[in-house]
Amino acid sequence: MPKHLAIIMDGNGRWAEERGRPRIDGHRHGVNRVRDITEASAKKGIRDLTLFAFSSENWRRPEAEVRLLTELLMTSLEGEIETLHRNGIRLRVIGDLRPFGKKIEKMVAEATRLTRSNTTLGLNLAVNYGGHWDITNACARLLADIQEGSDSDLEIGHEALESRLSTAGIPAPDLFIRTGGEQRLSNFLLWQLAYTELYFTTTLWPDFNSDALDSALADYRSRQRRFGKTAQQVV
Ligand code: IPE
Ligand code: IPE
Ligand code: MG
Repeated sequence: MPKHLAIIMDGNGRWAEERGRPRIDGHRHGVNRVRDITEASAKKGIRDLTLFAFSSENWRRPEAEVRLLTELLMTSLEGEIETLHRNGIRLRVIGDLRPFGKKIEKMVAEATRLTRSNTTLGLNLAVNYGGHWDITNACARLLADIQEGSDSDLEIGHEALESRLSTAGIPAPDLFIRTGGEQRLSNFLLWQLAYTELYFTTTLWPDFNSDALDSALADYRSRQRRFGKTAQQVV
């Protein structure tokens, strides 16, 4: 079982278009899958689930879709906090929340604080997230900490940078899933996916149920993770 699963939830728009319905309907159905997959992941003993909900590039979509999508995201999140907490889920939102305003930032901060001691599953929601942003932001923080000078041993290095990423403290994903058929990373966790097993499926996100998750997990179990070593070294 992967300890950390990261998913690009893609294909909502096409799911709706195939049915002659507005794209936002696909996003609405996608929210139900978020609920199911979160629950299934917790049951299977996955420790962390990171979901790409809105990318730093998604602002380029038509204004109406951006508005509906971000509204859906924030109302769903707000509506789920109590259930998440009751189910022992620890919430973290990764990404730049500033464009959403003070009220949303406060809501997320409170939800994070409320759920911080929960241990069943870490749910990391990537909102206005981009891998380039994450790495740039970590560099800026590291530079500021070096200049501030309170730790004279602090220098640019792997650990120093990694501990300033938005995923600090969470081990790198073991398995990455992208639904919707595209085979690209679309600026998701660029640093963190360095040694992750990649799995692509044509299933659209609103159809991605727990059976589809089981297929991905079965595929993952057939992989040999070598991390640079030879096959003999890892058996
Ligand atoms: C994924 O579905 C959800 C987000 C990007 C927010 P899309 O909206 O990208 O769906 P397709 O790829 O157009 O089908
Ligand atoms: C990636 O999907 C972002 C999310 C799922 C949130 P996109 O549909 O935006 O990706 P591209 O633009 O096709 O690469
Ligand atoms: Mg898409």
